[in-house]
This record gives sequence, C-alpha cells and structure tokens, in this order.
Amino acid sequence: MSKKIIILNGSPRSNGNTSALIEQFTKGAEQNGHQVIRFDLQKMNIHPCLGCCKGGKDPASPCVQKDDMLKIYPHYVEADLVVLASPMYYWSISGQLKTAFDRLFAVAECNPSYANPVKDCVLLMAAEGDSEENFEPVAHFYHALLNNLGWKDRGIIYAGGNMDAGSILQKPEQLKAAFDLGASL
Ligand SMILES: Cc1cc2nc3c(=O)[nH]c(=O)nc-3n(C[C@H](O)[C@H](O)[C@H](O)COP(=O)(O)O)c2cc1C
Repeated sequence: MSKKIIILNGSPRSNGNTSALIEQFTKGAEQNGHQVIRFDLQKMNIHPCLGCCKGGKDPASPCVQKDDMLKIYPHYVEADLVVLASPMYYWSISGQLKTAFDRLFAVAECNPSYANPVKDCVLLMAAEGDSEENFEPVAHFYHALLNNLGWKDRGIIYAGGNMDAGSILQKPEQLKAAFDLGASL
C-alpha cells in the first residue's frame, strides 16, 4: 500500500551529507510507490515554540504562531511516516529540526489528552564521528522520543565519518543503506 512520507530535513547544507541520504531514501521509497514530500527547514521561516500551550483550537492552523509551519502541518497530519533527517550537532539533532519538531506539539494540542497522531518514523543522520559511542546520545533521544509519542521506528541510518559536505558521495555503502531503507517500506 502506498504510504505518505514527510521528510523534515534539518541540514542547512543543500549539498550536504544529509541531503544525499534523503535523495537516496526518496528514490527507494518512490520506487516502491510511496509519496514523499520534503521540507528543507533551513529555507523556511519557522520560529521556536513559545510554550504557551494555547494551540490546538483550529486543526487547520493549530499553533498560535503563523509562520511556515502552516505549510508542514497538513502534510504531517496526513503522513503515515515521518523522516527525521539531520546532521549530528553536538550529539543531537540540528536546531532547525528540533525547532520544527517542537512546533508539532500544536497538533497534539488539538486532542484533549494531548494525544499525538500515531506515525511510523525513520532517522537519517550524518556525522563526523563514526563510533557506536558517538551515536549513543542520539539513539537514546530518538528512542525516548518515539516511546513517548507512541511511534514505531522503521529504521535508522547513522552515516558516520562525514565532515565535509558531500564526503558521503565517497561512501556508496551508506547511500545504498538509505536507498534500501526507503525501498523496504
Ligand atoms: C555545529 C556543529 C556541530 C557538530 N557536532 C557534531 C557532533 O557532535 N558529532 C559529530 O560526529 N559530528 C558533529 N558535527 C559534524 C556534522 O555532523 C557533519 O559535518 C555532518 O556530515 C553534516 O551534515 P550535512 O552535510 O548534512 O550538513 C558537527 C558539525 C557542526 C557544524
């Protein structure tokens, strides 16, 4: 069955390693008949969550802040699977992705018990470090997040050993892993 996939790209580098992972993942997913929509968060006007807890009154425009999150909300609500794509920044996801993800709370606010819409999820991450230890804090964050949201992990690509933009192009095995994950859905 065709799935709706939303990719939240937290990398500011348009020709970077995260982008290359996204391109391969998308090719695989589209080859399998899935619909993919990608948001390059760096190019969008997205403000941080205010923590006001006053959202959720209008499902079509759930947050009190009216910025480019309005472009993301309808696709997020409809999506079967959310792809969190990010460079590792200080053993976490990038600020661009965290900022957008926090704002998804406004969708949960549409429900009386703050229930989040249930999704499948994928993590694509590029990083300089290439050890299990380097990825451990992100793995912990990702699994805690999914556990809290009640989401199901459908796969993780940790693409270590990549500092310079595009260095991943010399690592066909990492690109293939991203393609294969997309094609496996
Ligand atoms: C501000 C900043 C923080 C970073 N922190 C880490 C880190 O904690 N661990 C790591 O392995 N790489 C770190 N890196 C390296 C990036 O994760 C790496 O360059 C990655 O390939 C960038 O992905 P991109 O090309 O998609 O932007 C950092 C890079 C920057 C600019």
